[in-house]
Amino acid sequence: MQSYLKKSGHALSILSFILWIGFICQAYAGTPAAVVSAHRLATAAGYEILDKGGNAFDAAVAVSAALAVVEPYASGLGGGGFWLLHEANVDRNIMIDGREIAPLEASKTMYLDDNNQPVPGKSLNGPLAAGIPGTPAALAYISQRYGRLDLAQSLAPAIRLAREGFRVDHRFAQTLEFHKKKLAKYTDTAKIFLPGGKPPEPGQIFRQSQLAATLSAIARSGSKGFYEGSVAYELIRSVRNSGGIWHEQDLARYRVIERKPMQFRYKNALITSAPLPSAGGLTLVQALNTLKWLNFEESNVFERVHLVVEALRLSYKNRAELLGDSDFVQVPVELLTSKAYAQQQAALINLKRAGVSMPSQPVKNEGKETTHFSILDKDGNRVAATMSINTFFGSGFVAGDTGILLNNEMDDFAMGTDIPNVFGLYGSQANAIAPGKRPLSSMSPTFVENDENILVFGTPGGSRIISMVLLVILDFVNNNQTDPQKLVAGPRFHHQYLPDFIQIEPETFNSDWVEALQYKGHEVRAMQRKWGNMQMILIDKRNRQSLVASDPRGILDIRY
Ligand code: DON
Repeated sequence: MQSYLKKSGHALSILSFILWIGFICQAYAGTPAAVVSAHRLATAAGYEILDKGGNAFDAAVAVSAALAVVEPYASGLGGGGFWLLHEANVDRNIMIDGREIAPLEASKTMYLDDNNQPVPGKSLNGPLAAGIPGTPAALAYISQRYGRLDLAQSLAPAIRLAREGFRVDHRFAQTLEFHKKKLAKYTDTAKIFLPGGKPPEPGQIFRQSQLAATLSAIARSGSKGFYEGSVAYELIRSVRNSGGIWHEQDLARYRVIERKPMQFRYKNALITSAPLPSAGGLTLVQALNTLKWLNFEESNVFERVHLVVEALRLSYKNRAELLGDSDFVQVPVELLTSKAYAQQQAALINLKRAGVSMPSQPVKNEGKETTHFSILDKDGNRVAATMSINTFFGSGFVAGDTGILLNNEMDDFAMGTDIPNVFGLYGSQANAIAPGKRPLSSMSPTFVENDENILVFGTPGGSRIISMVLLVILDFVNNNQTDPQKLVAGPRFHHQYLPDFIQIEPETFNSDWVEALQYKGHEVRAMQRKWGNMQMILIDKRNRQSLVASDPRGILDIRY
């Protein structure tokens, strides 16, 4: 009798599982596919692959590779990133961690002089600044494990764009012009980006035949096309010739890691975001949990900003003091995500006065380098991915004849507790350099879901990525803002514990706003440029609609 009950219970649970799966597929069936990225040619590559029968994961491979070609200053095969996937048929979220790793020869003090002071630029310029890239491995992995098409099919649009070229858009031309000194430093970089000694003009056709050949090697041989064989040989040769420390073994041992995303509730919304080695999810959960203990909703607009700033201050303090690659160091994730801890944090916040961090430091970088895209396919699979080579044009070093511009992501490690990185972020031993370790990131591809809608989004912006994502979540959940264009275009302010001031976008906030915060003791500084380039899909579950929105801060710059 008991075994009968067990069996029928088993059969019932299988039946309900099938019905449940059916329900999930049903829920999104008929919602039109959508692709949104920072560049129209990369977006077109995504649609092309969906039209060929690829799923969202194939399209993600196509868009990532196309962005490497058309936005080479922001991401590429020489960099890394995080791809947040949602598999609709099993209702599962996965983070593909394709973050760079420190070379085996790397050491804690490699960017310091004899007095333990950082050598200016050493962690940012040239091949010594480059971590072992993860993007090629991630693309091969996503294609093989989650895609429907062959890798070669998904890489075809990017190979075509690299081989046949594309028209230089205004943003690309401006970026080249602005960084031409950096690009002139290494011969193989200059050959590609400064043909004839100067940056290509808007409208000119820009071809990258070497990059096309490297992409083709990956199309033929998968990950091995990059991490082994002639491309790997050329990477090592050129890196070592110019003062880098990569070994064959560094490339051969690189692996992407599938991670469980950070998932938590904020009011009626389920948030799914980046786990370590990105600080994104952990910083978001702390800030949002802290706000739950404060009268956020009942507060007026100025008080709300004060509360958000103070919640950010405390969460970024923990980022600086506690976070790092959890495969190497112990991070108190359970404590930081607990409600009781958030209550203690909230109690530290003075509702009337700004908290204090430490003396202010200058902010060195404001930016749109790095890139994000979002994809939804007709079966409800989705991808939110943020990829980077760190600062504009990464390390500035193209490796030999591979056509690949290497990242300078090593700067995301903490070189010492009192040495800020290019984004002004401080760190602790938890984020110190170690061979094979991943530098702490802020990249935060994110899903936010409530009963009516799902947001699939993310943005570049260095340390400010997390606060941008936070502001969107607050606007969506607390203000019921469901216009994706308004969500991505919203005004941005930021606080990261150190430097101890509120960073605001220029020409965005009026003097009342600034004075109200100054009155509470905050220092408010307008930055030189607006920041971020957010890309979003909003899925309207009831009307089965998908709406896309691209950050005007990015689009406005593109005239071709
Ligand atoms: O991983 C990180 O957090 C940084 N390397 C991302 C860099 C970035 O977003 C640059 N954009 N402004």
